[in-house]
Amino acid sequence: MARGLLAAAALLGFLQASSSFEVKDSSGRICIIADLTVAFSVEYKNHGQKEFVHFVLPQNATVDSQSSCGKDNASHPVLVLDFGAGHSLSLNFSESADKYQVEELLFHYNLSDATLFPNSTTGDMKTVSHKSIIQAHMGTKYRCINSKQVNMKSVNVTFSNVTLEAYLTNGTFSVNKTECAEDMVSTTTVVSTTPKQTTSQVPTTSPAPTSSPPNPAVGKYNVTGPNGTCVLAYMGLQLNITYPKKDEKMGLDLLNFIPHNTSVSGRCNSTSALLNLTFEKTRVIFQFALNASAEKFFLQGVNVSTTLPSEAKNPNFEASNNSVSGLRATVGNSYKCNSEENLQVTDEALVNVFNVQIQVFKIDGDKFGPVEECQQDENNMLIPIIVGAALAGLVLIVLIAYLIGRKRSHAGYQTI
Ligand SMILES: *[C@@H]1O[C@H](CO)[C@@H](O)[C@H](O)[C@H]1NC(C)=O
Ligand SMILES: *[C@@H]1O[C@H](CO)[C@@H](O)[C@H](O)[C@H]1NC(C)=O
Ligand SMILES: *[C@@H]1O[C@H](CO)[C@@H](O)[C@H](O)[C@H]1NC(C)=O
Ligand SMILES: *[C@@H]1O[C@H](CO)[C@@H](O)[C@H](O)[C@H]1NC(C)=O
Ligand SMILES: *[C@@H]1O[C@H](CO)[C@@H](O)[C@H](O)[C@H]1NC(C)=O
Ligand SMILES: *[C@@H]1O[C@H](CO)[C@@H](O)[C@H](O)[C@H]1NC(C)=O
Ligand SMILES: *[C@@H]1O[C@H](CO)[C@@H](O)[C@H](O)[C@H]1NC(C)=O
Ligand SMILES: *[C@@H]1O[C@H](CO)[C@@H](O)[C@H](O)[C@H]1NC(C)=O
Ligand SMILES: *[C@@H]1O[C@H](CO)[C@@H](O)[C@H](O)[C@H]1NC(C)=O
Ligand SMILES: *[C@@H]1O[C@H](CO)[C@@H](O)[C@H](O)[C@H]1NC(C)=O
Ligand SMILES: *[C@@H]1O[C@H](CO)[C@@H](O)[C@H](O)[C@H]1NC(C)=O
Ligand SMILES: *[C@@H]1O[C@H](CO)[C@@H](O)[C@H](O)[C@H]1NC(C)=O
Repeated sequence: MARGLLAAAALLGFLQASSSFEVKDSSGRICIIADLTVAFSVEYKNHGQKEFVHFVLPQNATVDSQSSCGKDNASHPVLVLDFGAGHSLSLNFSESADKYQVEELLFHYNLSDATLFPNSTTGDMKTVSHKSIIQAHMGTKYRCINSKQVNMKSVNVTFSNVTLEAYLTNGTFSVNKTECAEDMVSTTTVVSTTPKQTTSQVPTTSPAPTSSPPNPAVGKYNVTGPNGTCVLAYMGLQLNITYPKKDEKMGLDLLNFIPHNTSVSGRCNSTSALLNLTFEKTRVIFQFALNASAEKFFLQGVNVSTTLPSEAKNPNFEASNNSVSGLRATVGNSYKCNSEENLQVTDEALVNVFNVQIQVFKIDGDKFGPVEECQQDENNMLIPIIVGAALAGLVLIVLIAYLIGRKRSHAGYQTI
């Protein structure tokens, strides 16, 4: 129920045009522009009963005078939006190296506002906050069309259709943008001009029910060896890295490879093949081997290297595993798997492959040979077959029962 209302509120937010807010310094220079839709869900007590209310940031919300561009290193830029009877939403910014972020989100609300909180037991001011929710590269605007929910104690705030930039030098949004992970790799693959997209999920007091990211787009990759094409692969590629952050919490970096921005290289000899995929600062190298006696090719090694967000303790990440043993098929055939496969590189790094079809070493006419389907797909196929068979059985039983019944009643009439 509450969820439905929240969805409705979020939807309402979407239908509304986003509101735009600006912060200027004393000389009139604009340092923050925020264009956003914000939906709130608040739980409060009404005579001991839990009540949920849902509302959106009104378009007539105003930029509070506490908003500021910050003074060098003495204070940080902050955007404070006032609305209704004493409610305010604050976005506190900070910068680190080549990134800026909403370091803290604060929401002050006034429970004595009877229009938003009818019959609230208490009439006091409340404040909830959440650390680091948005991060973007310096000199780029942060863009997130999809909604991003921030859960705090008794309050959920949902941002959508966000375009936001702090530390502006030019008074307008930068041309380049940092897209949020939620928007990445839609079917129409938006090309980002920024170095890298990351999600950093901050463990919160409430478990973060972040929806899983979209599946990566399927790319076509090939390697040419001395005898022509020696690796032919279709797959969607996703990297999942957990890493320790400077604040000792754990971060998660989920990255989808964008096929047309991925460069391919590799090499082959008669027993070993390398597929080297580079997407921006991230590289995955697959090493395939030949089991000559069994006439099979298989994935033997995976090597991953990437640059993690600056909040990571060690931004340079590398991992490799030389005994993976996956994607196995007979030489001359292709390996195919529609189910997602998770290749464990180390405890910290997973390479997830989606809708893979691959053939290595011997590829006649640069086309895939006969398909060897993975076990997961066959299991998935088995379920509809079993259900189908069960249904067919049921239909048969009903039919027989009907025929027998009809015969009996016929017999009955005759005896009368
Ligand atoms: C997003 O905001 C822009 C400008 O504020 C508006 O034109 C557009 O319709 C909004 N899109 C959605 C999906 O709400
Ligand atoms: C803002 O708009 C709401 C209706 O959308 C109205 O009730 C309220 O009085 C307005 N507040 C100000 C400060 O204009
Ligand atoms: C902070 O700014 C003041 C004056 O601008 C400067 O003297 C001081 O060194 C700065 N401190 C740091 C840590 O950058
Ligand atoms: C608030 O309380 C009054 C009287 O106690 C009651 O009539 C009204 O329905 C209540 N409103 C809500 C929204 O609970
Ligand atoms: C916030 O969201 C969580 C999970 O989506 C939900 O369990 C909780 O009830 C929500 N809280 C509020 C105040 O809407
Ligand atoms: C400032 O904006 C103008 C256009 O408004 C653009 O031509 C110029 O390159 C921008 N300068 C910087 C430093 O971003
Ligand atoms: C945008 O990004 C591209 C590629 O990173 C860079 O070459 C270009 O200078 C950037 N444009 C601006 C206005 O910063
Ligand atoms: C992949 O195949 C295309 C067309 O067959 C070819 O032009 C390209 O050089 C190949 N790429 C590699 C890395 O071998
Ligand atoms: C990413 O890895 C973490 C830790 O191994 C795991 O909990 C999470 O489910 C993974 N997510 C995806 C999308 O693979
Ligand atoms: C290329 O083909 C020749 C002849 O079939 C074979 O001897 C050789 O091992 C092949 N080389 C590779 C790299 O597969
Ligand atoms: C093929 O290459 C691998 C690694 O690149 C090497 O270890 C192996 O000796 C090579 N085999 C042949 C037959 O050249
Ligand atoms: C992978 O490709 C990159 C360039 O695309 C290259 O710099 C790197 O050396 C390659 N790695 C291997 C192991 O071939």
